[in-house]
Amino acid sequence: MKIPVNMPPGVAFLNGHFTAENIITKVTNSSSLVGVFHDEASWQALPSNTVIYQVEMLSSAQGEGELFVGTTHLNPGRVGDEFYMTRGHFHQRREQGEVYFGLCGNGLLLLQNEQGEAHLEQVSPGSVHIIPGFTAHRLINTGTEILSALAVWPSVAGHDYAALEKGFAIRVVEQDGKIQAKEVQNG
Ligand code: F6R
Ligand code: ZN
Repeated sequence: MKIPVNMPPGVAFLNGHFTAENIITKVTNSSSLVGVFHDEASWQALPSNTVIYQVEMLSSAQGEGELFVGTTHLNPGRVGDEFYMTRGHFHQRREQGEVYFGLCGNGLLLLQNEQGEAHLEQVSPGSVHIIPGFTAHRLINTGTEILSALAVWPSVAGHDYAALEKGFAIRVVEQDGKIQAKEVQNG
């Protein structure tokens, strides 16, 4: 009997782009990131169709035990003094974790627990980030190139954006030509 060997989807580790039959892409423009950046006037001044990031995902099975695979491509740039970043979220199913892999570009992964304690991890090509359950996460592009990070997470995890309405406890800005992480009061 001839045993079939199927061709799986592929990912280019240099830029995170997939080769697969069905790729799902979600584009996030600045206009949908209401209240995310602290300098509201600078955010308002951006053309509303300014692309901040795109998530490219493989189409995969959903349900308990199934996994999603996707790459976030976060553009370089700033809104006022604050670096471009993803909205950030807890998982709807709080106990579900995730793994991020830095592929290209340079940035930070902001992690925050349910008690509001936050810390940062350096994201660079080859970095591996284990995001435990009960931990909100946001990517921040502090470099001059696109920051791409591959992620694998349970399909049942879901996203809870509302739980972070007050924002994260750390903001990352450029000040005096340096990348500075600042603690904020309302986190
Ligand atoms: C999935 C995950 C990533 C993010 C992506 C966009 O659980 O963490 O795929 O969804 O980086 O960020 P958000 O969803 O915060 O807009
Ligand atoms: Zn996530």
